[in-house]
Amino acid sequence: MHRHPTAVGLRLALLGWLLLSASHAAAAEKASEGKARIRILATGGTIAGAQTRQEDSAYKAGALDVEQLIAAVPSLKQLASLGGEQVANIGSQDMNDAVWLKLARRINALLATPDVDGIVVTHGTDTMEETAYFLNLVIRSDKPVVLVGAMRPATALGADGPANLYNAVAVATHPGARGRGVLVVMNDEVHAARNVIKTNTTNVKSFESPNRGAAGLVHTGKVTWFEPVDTKHTHRSELSLEKVEKLPRVDILYAHANMSADLLEAAVKSGARGLVIAGVGNGNMSQQALEVLARAVKQGVAVVRSTRLMSGLVLRNSEVDDDKLGFVASGELNPAKSRVLLQLALTRTKDPAQLQRYFQEY
Ligand code: SIN
Repeated sequence: MHRHPTAVGLRLALLGWLLLSASHAAAAEKASEGKARIRILATGGTIAGAQTRQEDSAYKAGALDVEQLIAAVPSLKQLASLGGEQVANIGSQDMNDAVWLKLARRINALLATPDVDGIVVTHGTDTMEETAYFLNLVIRSDKPVVLVGAMRPATALGADGPANLYNAVAVATHPGARGRGVLVVMNDEVHAARNVIKTNTTNVKSFESPNRGAAGLVHTGKVTWFEPVDTKHTHRSELSLEKVEKLPRVDILYAHANMSADLLEAAVKSGARGLVIAGVGNGNMSQQALEVLARAVKQGVAVVRSTRLMSGLVLRNSEVDDDKLGFVASGELNPAKSRVLLQLALTRTKDPAQLQRYFQEY
């Protein structure tokens, strides 16, 4: 016989449900008591990538969402009280100004509240150094911001993403991360955004800071710090996105033996407001290229000499007369990072002397 629930029965069921919800909420609150509140912002990349078969090298970047990334590492909950947001879900070869602006504005808004203690950004490794340096220049907070990725997709044998994510959250909760600028955590190492570069196409030991070394080590969530960087960043940066709707176009051109100047001319004609040369050696290039660039400066285009080499400095006035030609020397910044700094600096000034100051201080 079918029985209708009585009013008393319904009230008892509701009471039971309320008590259960309250005890779940209390348990969740207790688990996160006293823990740092970390927001994970996901943008895609191999860390969120999936293969069809584990033995394939082919995979799709950005196949998993932020909740799946968090769920894959249950022990994260012991480190921090977590929340996840999906900002984008792309391979980082498709990273662009629009996503940078959205990501930076979201991080600034979150860090301005007292409810968020730090940010972890999951990101593809291909352009992670550029995004990290961009954020390093425009985030207005000394709270930790940590970028993390993986060299192997989430489905791979020996996937490195879960351990990297665990270490990244550990670094974001560490008091020593505060005021260090944006950091990158990969393969048990912590790197300063300004110094780090990707050096290998597939090996898990890919991220290095060739000129200055790592900012620290992190193994099973335990962090050891080395010397902090002395350049300006985050809360000490005068660069910002206030009043910036769009970033100026800056192109990178690669120097080589037998270099012609046609592509430089094409870049200027296509509307580049700045050019970065991935120069040979100490930021050198062919005579033809120098002549075209000298003319570009006279037309108001900013020119930065960087190097295609992995380490060392590009010094002013070594083989090229920067003073006479109106060029900027990139110092320690590689072409990709020089492009980021030039885009932001050009929102403030076109004066080569002022641009050079940014390259010295940032
Ligand atoms: C990407 O940068 O999105 C692909 C490569 C990677 O994440 O390792």
